[in-house]
Amino acid sequence: MNMIVSFKEPSLEESKLKTDLLVMFFFENEIKTRDTDKTTAGIIKSAFQQKEFTGKINQSILIRNNKNINKILLIGLGKRNELNFERMMNAASIGSSFMIKSKSSKIKITYRLDDKVFEEYIQAITQGANLGLYKFDKYKKTKTKSVTIHFWGRGKNKRDERNQIGTGMVISSGVSLARDISNMPSSDCTPLMLASRAKKISNKSGLKCRIIKKDQLKKLGMGGIIGVSKGSHQPPVCIVLEHQGGKKNEKPVVIVGKTITFDSGGISIKPSAAMDEMKHDKSGGAAVLGIMESVSRLKIPMNIIGIMPTTENLPGGNAYKPGDVLTFYNKKTAEILNTDAEGRLVLADALALAQDYKPKAIIDLATLTGACIVALGSVASGMMGNNDTLKRMMLNASKACGERIWELPLWPEYKNMIKSDIADIKNIGMGGAGTITAAAFLSNFVGDYPWVHLDIAGTAWKQRGTSQKGYIKNGATGVGVMLIVELLSNWNKYSKLK
Ligand code: BES
Ligand code: MG
Ligand code: ZN
Repeated sequence: MNMIVSFKEPSLEESKLKTDLLVMFFFENEIKTRDTDKTTAGIIKSAFQQKEFTGKINQSILIRNNKNINKILLIGLGKRNELNFERMMNAASIGSSFMIKSKSSKIKITYRLDDKVFEEYIQAITQGANLGLYKFDKYKKTKTKSVTIHFWGRGKNKRDERNQIGTGMVISSGVSLARDISNMPSSDCTPLMLASRAKKISNKSGLKCRIIKKDQLKKLGMGGIIGVSKGSHQPPVCIVLEHQGGKKNEKPVVIVGKTITFDSGGISIKPSAAMDEMKHDKSGGAAVLGIMESVSRLKIPMNIIGIMPTTENLPGGNAYKPGDVLTFYNKKTAEILNTDAEGRLVLADALALAQDYKPKAIIDLATLTGACIVALGSVASGMMGNNDTLKRMMLNASKACGERIWELPLWPEYKNMIKSDIADIKNIGMGGAGTITAAAFLSNFVGDYPWVHLDIAGTAWKQRGTSQKGYIKNGATGVGVMLIVELLSNWNKYSKLK
């Protein structure tokens, strides 16, 4: 999607405005016709009076005034005192989404930002507008159109507005990148292909990129990544991205993402229904790539490392099998009782590698367990961890950006459920709590470093008909990018916040 954002003169009259769509936001029961022209004002007023449109949240109505403006979309924001980042983003995305089906290839959308409060929400509006236009069209003969977005605003604080637009553009491109990667079919996104894509993105955005190839993974003793990869003809890689925004010796935050380019289950093979969705099993790593690109472009003044342990999980003749024992990078061993619990095995090596950086925090994202969908559906990602401060920071960042997370406990009882008779631990627990026993497995690989695990199994892609948000489209959601970039952008604030 080709998108340009610019500002219109605040003094411009509606009658002189040329646009395909004019978007206007209204708070609930605040009938204001503002400085629209008479025809528009009249239509809006009567829509209010007839209670067709009251400004309720997510309410929208389309009017036409037969002039330069093809369509005018009125969007409800709900009560003024309940406005937040997510509501504003969603409202903006309803506007731009509306034009996706339009026949013309060049589209102009104008957002009328005439209320002072909108000035604080320009980033949210930019993000929503951009994500509302997201479409995975790589495999479509006809590609989507080029869109120009105009903000027709008060323009009182131009510099801040420009900053907010810039940030919103960077973050929404990060989310779109994560979506693109997750949406790619596994045949066109093998571990090696993903590695070269990551390299290109790194060069462009100023990240350091190290690709640890199969031989090196073996030498390093990364038995988890190697073990899972054995049933596939595609060699595994571990992709390491570095953003040095802080002082050289400053401890980094390490972000780890499960990057299984396709999860068939391996020898413990999955049922065939919806197995295609397992191309999305790389969503954690896709988010890491989107996060790293964003933090680099935003020049976040911190050191941040991204790690993507990347492989397919297939049942080829050389595949790892139930009963096998794998040894990880930190020398711990695990008995494999189900080859479909592969995510924790590749994460084990990556989390152990994260410890080499003596990080101030480790955060991992993974489409780890179907059980998490049972617990939280697609509304929230599951959060578990070993550090109350870091968990609180995550929860506060989550509230700010609207990507929901919910904590599940990680008590010692759960850790006992994965003890093995013959190895240090086993890769599945018995007796329920599948999301938590998976996290308990991971906790063996983070040492005493502050760590949070996000299970994004339910939130990484849109299961048919689940989300009503305009900024979430069918397929991958890019979940985690907004949340982690928000956290990293305001790390000091969140570390002090109660
Ligand atoms: N990638 C899956 C988890 C998953 C399933 C994510 C469905 C999203 C939708 C993961 O590798 C997996 O297969 N987990 C198993 C673990 C079980 C064998 C302990 C699961 O959840 O069934
Ligand atoms: Mg699996
Ligand atoms: Zn998986």
